[in-house]
Amino acid sequence: MSSMNNDIVIFDTTLRDGEQSPGASMTLEEKLQVAKVLDELGVDVIEAGFPIASNGDFEAVSEIAKVVKNATVCGLARAGSKDIDRAGEAIKHAEKRRIHTFISTSPVHMKYKLQMEPDRVYEKVIESVTRARNWTDDVEWSAEDGTRTEFDFLCKCVEAAINAGATTINIPDTVGYTTPLEIADLFKRVIETVPNSDKAIFSAHCHNDLGMAVANSLAAVRGGARQIECTINGLGERAGNAALEEVIMAIRTRNDVFAYNTGINTKLLTRASKLVSAVSAFPVQYNKAIVGKNAFAHESGIHQDGMLKNAETYEIMKPEDVGVGGTDLVMGKHSGRHAFKQKLDQLGYNLGENAFQDAFNRFKDLADKKKNIFDEDIEALVDDEVGAASDKIKVIAMTVIAGTSGVQKAIVTLDMNGTHVTKEATGDGPVDAIFNAIKQMIPHKARLMLYQVSAVTAGTDAQAEVSCRLREGDHTVTGRSADTDTMVSSAKAYVSALNKLIVRREKEVHNAQTSAAE
Ligand code: KIV
Ligand code: ZN
Repeated sequence: MSSMNNDIVIFDTTLRDGEQSPGASMTLEEKLQVAKVLDELGVDVIEAGFPIASNGDFEAVSEIAKVVKNATVCGLARAGSKDIDRAGEAIKHAEKRRIHTFISTSPVHMKYKLQMEPDRVYEKVIESVTRARNWTDDVEWSAEDGTRTEFDFLCKCVEAAINAGATTINIPDTVGYTTPLEIADLFKRVIETVPNSDKAIFSAHCHNDLGMAVANSLAAVRGGARQIECTINGLGERAGNAALEEVIMAIRTRNDVFAYNTGINTKLLTRASKLVSAVSAFPVQYNKAIVGKNAFAHESGIHQDGMLKNAETYEIMKPEDVGVGGTDLVMGKHSGRHAFKQKLDQLGYNLGENAFQDAFNRFKDLADKKKNIFDEDIEALVDDEVGAASDKIKVIAMTVIAGTSGVQKAIVTLDMNGTHVTKEATGDGPVDAIFNAIKQMIPHKARLMLYQVSAVTAGTDAQAEVSCRLREGDHTVTGRSADTDTMVSSAKAYVSALNKLIVRREKEVHNAQTSAAE
């Protein structure tokens, strides 16, 4: 089963490993939006969350299970029966359902993290897979920290997991430590050594700590893996997971080397990337392969000259193939709804009617302030809209006094669940004054971990995109906003992060109450 055909199962874990990355948490509505796009994109498996982690995670997996039409919906579980039953409950409404259960198998994890002897770990492999099989025939077992596991013990656990009924065997590179040659060899040897390996599909789950996640995933496939676990934009714990868009376009563009098939509609890659970036508030780096702003931009004269003569001189992929529009239509205040809609389609956005109307209104406001509206302006504006759609607190008005004489002062009005509240504060600079005024209305103990401003386009009338990352206790959240006024944008990004923090706090209280009642 494992390496007999050339179809690669694409297992997307944006909503689980991706959402686990600090500051990338998403609301239920946002997760549903992402799940729908992943389903349209054609991924085979959507790992929708870790149901035991919180009631919010359980609800998200359960709701996703109800809306996904084509993909298998998967819930993650540790090797305990409570975890597995919670995952089983969460996925039970899905047309196609999978439980993914895992336990660490490396010496360092078993000794320090699990504090378990290898024999007990081995027993738990069998117990957990057997329990998961009571819920579904589609069970994936993972040897956490697999690439740092002793080979013989790894093979022993893999064989036991398959005997207990696992149909997918995942060997994760949990800490992003392996290299392409090493992982190809590991998969090949495990598949050759384990006697029942033909009864399972082998899977790679690579982290990007050394920047090799995509290369390692593809190498694992050369070694016999037929499932790749990946995330949109490479979101994930620490340096992230293998980026789905890179894996897919590498297979497609270099099919002469990687002669494998996936069911992904590559034209939706840009749209998926933008949505995930907007809802997670994780900007995509400009020079990111496939979906970065500059991935298809040519600045130097020599390159532009080559491109005009023949695009193949400097492009190995067609921008249209990943859903990037070809023309560069400049929008302005005379552009109507139709042109705006066309522009959004071209940029890969597909908004619902209300979100479209809000985005159009904001576009018109922006066009009054700024002569030329570029694609980047529209992207910033729509990302802002998508990111703030479920916020209960919004910035309504503000006045800032800054300059060389006197103290910096800000007067800010917020809409707080329908009531307008205004506060005034001073600070060390205008941004500090704004944040102090907001803090009076939304008291918190969060630390500001990141405050970042970047210009969306060139020119002094460019929109400023501001990202604010806050940490309170175990929660890290990120807010992002764009506006031609840097101070307004700062206030909105701060309030957006605080909205997310409030949702996290409410979830925590709800979870504590439910577990106390149980
Ligand atoms: O990185 C990892 O090992 C994981 C497992 C839960 C599969 O995410
Ligand atoms: Zn992982």
